[in-house]
Amino acid sequence: MTGGSSIIAFTTILLTLVVKTSCQDCSPCSCCNREKGCSYNNQLGIDHYCWSGCIGGFMSPKCQKTCVNPRCRSCSTESTCDTCYNGYYGYQCTSRCPTTCNTCSSSTSCTSCNDGFHGNQCQNSCPSTCKTCLSSSFCTVCNDGYYGDQCQYSCPSTCKACNSSSFCTSCWDGHHSGSGAMCLFHCNPECLSCTNETSCTACKTRSGIGYYRNDCSSQCSRKCKDYLCDIYGHCLECADPHFLGSSCDRCINGKYGSLCHNNCPVNCYSDCSSTGICKSCKDGFFSNYCNISCSENCKYGTCYRNGSCIGGCKDEFSGSRCEQKTCPINCNCDNNNSCFECDAYHFGPSCLLSCSSCKDNRCPVERLHAEKCDECATWRYGNLCNETCPRYCLDNKCDQDNGTCVCDKNYTFKNGKCVPSSCPANCSTCTSPDVCDSCVDRNTLSES
Ligand SMILES: *[C@@H]1O[C@H](CO)[C@@H](O)[C@H](O)[C@H]1NC(C)=O
Ligand SMILES: *[C@@H]1O[C@H](CO)[C@@H](O)[C@H](O)[C@H]1NC(C)=O
Ligand SMILES: *[C@@H]1O[C@H](CO)[C@@H](O)[C@H](O)[C@H]1NC(C)=O
Ligand SMILES: *[C@@H]1O[C@H](CO)[C@@H](O)[C@H](O)[C@H]1NC(C)=O
Ligand SMILES: *[C@@H]1O[C@H](CO)[C@@H](O)[C@H](O)[C@H]1NC(C)=O
Ligand SMILES: *[C@@H]1O[C@H](CO)[C@@H](O)[C@H](O)[C@H]1NC(C)=O
Ligand SMILES: *[C@@H]1O[C@H](CO)[C@@H](O)[C@H](O)[C@H]1NC(C)=O
Ligand SMILES: *[C@@H]1O[C@H](CO)[C@@H](O)[C@H](O)[C@H]1NC(C)=O
Ligand SMILES: *[C@@H]1O[C@H](CO)[C@@H](O)[C@H](O)[C@H]1NC(C)=O
Repeated sequence: MTGGSSIIAFTTILLTLVVKTSCQDCSPCSCCNREKGCSYNNQLGIDHYCWSGCIGGFMSPKCQKTCVNPRCRSCSTESTCDTCYNGYYGYQCTSRCPTTCNTCSSSTSCTSCNDGFHGNQCQNSCPSTCKTCLSSSFCTVCNDGYYGDQCQYSCPSTCKACNSSSFCTSCWDGHHSGSGAMCLFHCNPECLSCTNETSCTACKTRSGIGYYRNDCSSQCSRKCKDYLCDIYGHCLECADPHFLGSSCDRCINGKYGSLCHNNCPVNCYSDCSSTGICKSCKDGFFSNYCNISCSENCKYGTCYRNGSCIGGCKDEFSGSRCEQKTCPINCNCDNNNSCFECDAYHFGPSCLLSCSSCKDNRCPVERLHAEKCDECATWRYGNLCNETCPRYCLDNKCDQDNGTCVCDKNYTFKNGKCVPSSCPANCSTCTSPDVCDSCVDRNTLSES
């Protein structure tokens, strides 16, 4: 059982609203919600991406532009609101909810009521001692000092709130129940609220400075905004918006340095250490500062932090950074692994062509520079002699470069082939001078 309400939490809400209206144009990252910070979003390719959205009134995803309508809590284009501040609705949040509505989706449908009202349009008043209710006979929360289904009973005067005539659920500031239930005891004077004499649950501020620990003996850090912290010393908010964390000792993503004013190196994947060393790099870069490009010989263009290629090297390269040339297959190489001639059975610019396709397995004379066999076997043609001369070439011989030939008797060379010079009578098409494939009209194949 703790006593007292949190004036501190209430103050925080007010401060948040003030920040919103005084910050019109945000520098990168400064108007993001700070939970997850702001950095490069690799998937969307957006720099200064706000990972947990914007503070009220700014436009996703970078939170640098304000939503046009001041009633927008969040927007994804300047003129389309995603959510409205309480009390407004519509896609530009220009429409006012019924006055007794806290939030609504239209003028006739409230999604929550202001305290003290109930009904679809929050048109009905709760009983006067009720803070919130579902109907005129069922209160969900009583006003301070009352209890019961209809909050019809008064609490003992020592209780701020109670659930029966003999049990305080919270005490007035500065009081506690000790082992009892009636808030009969005074807290240590430094406490705003406490569970017993020695254990504060919230501290009073003194000269505008917040305190913490059970006995409120320690000052909140000046890194905390307005010196406000919880009973454990955790800042409620950081004084400098470049900082994060309950001790405000971490920089928001993308910044580093004792003042968190320095930008992390441009190719950091997200944030960096206090000395500007990247936690990880964007693809294609490595080293502590991600300012060295991965080797162009990396197979996939990506490498680890030490520069060794992810997925290995392109052909003919080796070494952890693929810096080493390797001798191409079928080559005789010099000391630098550059190919100066092909081995005895291959030819061509990369020594990838086999001499066995050439006539009598004879390699061209200048193997490394030759692009074709010097000579093919008689019935072959093409650079590699891997094409066969067309059918019906005279003596099976054809031109070694392009496969044209003089054809057998009664055949003519046409479109790279030897075709019959003429077909039998009444034949429409034929494959040889005496065999029809199809007939002219009114003749059938069976006759021929
Ligand atoms: C009041 O609250 C206390 C603590 O939560 C609980 O033990 C007790 O049963 C409650 N009494 C009633 C009448 O609800
Ligand atoms: C005071 O309350 C704290 C926290 O509930 C507890 O740890 C401590 O033992 C209490 N001290 C006394 C004297 O009751
Ligand atoms: C990378 O950045 C660091 C820190 O700024 C610098 O000292 C270093 O010279 C840079 N290296 C290259 C290759 O640019
Ligand atoms: C580089 O880093 C990778 C991944 O951490 C590791 O597997 C590899 O052994 C390292 N290479 C060298 C040369 O240190
Ligand atoms: C090997 O490469 C080095 C540096 O490029 C060069 O100075 C040297 O002459 C090369 N050696 C041969 C045998 O080509
Ligand atoms: C002959 O070799 C060439 C080059 O390798 C290839 O493009 C072609 O398809 C081959 N022809 C035959 C019939 O295999
Ligand atoms: C094929 O090569 C021969 C000899 O070089 C040439 O006379 C002929 O015109 C060429 N035919 C074609 C279709 O290129
Ligand atoms: C080829 O044509 C001649 C006439 O041009 C003919 O006498 C001969 O029989 C034909 N040979 C074949 C195999 O069709
Ligand atoms: C070709 O067809 C015509 C008409 O059907 C026929 O008179 C003639 O005998 C045919 N010729 C041959 C060689 O079959």
